[in-house]
Amino acid sequence: MNTTAIPTLDDIQAAQRLLALYLPPTPMWSYPSLDAATGARVAVKLENVQPVGAFKVRGGLNLVANLSATDRKRGVVAYSTGNHAQSIAYAAAQLGVPCVIVMPENPNPIKAASVRALGAELVEHGPTFDEASAYAVSLAERRGMYLVSAANDARILAGVATLYVEMLEKQPDLDVIVVPVGSGTGAAAACLVTRALAPGCRVIAVQSSASPAGHDSWQAGHCVTRPNRTRVEGIATGSGFELTQQIMRELLADFVLVLDDDIAAAQRMMLRTAHTLPEGAGAASLAGVLALADELSGLHVGVVCTGGNASEDEIRACLRADRLA
Ligand SMILES: Cc1ncc(COP(=O)(O)O)c(C=O)c1O
Repeated sequence: MNTTAIPTLDDIQAAQRLLALYLPPTPMWSYPSLDAATGARVAVKLENVQPVGAFKVRGGLNLVANLSATDRKRGVVAYSTGNHAQSIAYAAAQLGVPCVIVMPENPNPIKAASVRALGAELVEHGPTFDEASAYAVSLAERRGMYLVSAANDARILAGVATLYVEMLEKQPDLDVIVVPVGSGTGAAAACLVTRALAPGCRVIAVQSSASPAGHDSWQAGHCVTRPNRTRVEGIATGSGFELTQQIMRELLADFVLVLDDDIAAAQRMMLRTAHTLPEGAGAASLAGVLALADELSGLHVGVVCTGGNASEDEIRACLRADRLA
């Protein structure tokens, strides 16, 4: 497999066979009160029930399992605000691979504790994802370890794509899938899967207007850097990623920006209507559905609760804001 190329349907199906050894399919449900609140027919895929509480584990397992024997022995270094970190730490623990994770300083304590409990070494560096990623590059070089990209890797994309294969196997007639974007692996994977399996289904991406690099890169037609100020850590990136942008440029139907407060409102809506407590990024696709309510009215829409690793501070702030509203 060419790790820097766009994965093929064969690569995605190979990832599905591999992941079946580790992860059962996640549930997908519809809720009448969510349909009433959105005006669409919404199906929610619950990736927050994965063993690390987020969809990222699919990409992490597929990457680490497909490393060469030499690279497994060298060990891996990954950088992340938390869920990609947990996914690589989880995969490394499953497969007996040494693992170092670099996170921005003061990470979400739930994600940091999980990384440590999985046996990885955790290094905190820099105020944001972008400084942490630069530090991870130098650390991997110094220690002679394999540097795992956050997104520019076909093994990650093929693993993540299995989510959308499962989604379309369960609901082949979806009109639209709405996907949150940080680095863009989810949205790019959804684009590849719909092209192969459901060409009539449109993929729409969502990002916070406080960290719009993915959106602006897509609009500009090349990767750009932007301020990275969202409080929604799962989608807090400051630049576009080459491989995922390349795919989204060709296949993505639309890309919307929402406010952080809209994402918090969508978290509360998911809690009330879908009996699920998402972290901010896990509710961003629902925030996108609400932003596009007129356009999506009456349509069959797939959203992913991509993660459920909200810190206690995040949950308190989210619920307090509701009382103030
Ligand atoms: C819960 C959650 N949702 C969405 C995203 C964004 O995914 P991607 O970086 O693949 O765009 C992330 C990224 O870490 C995440 O953790």
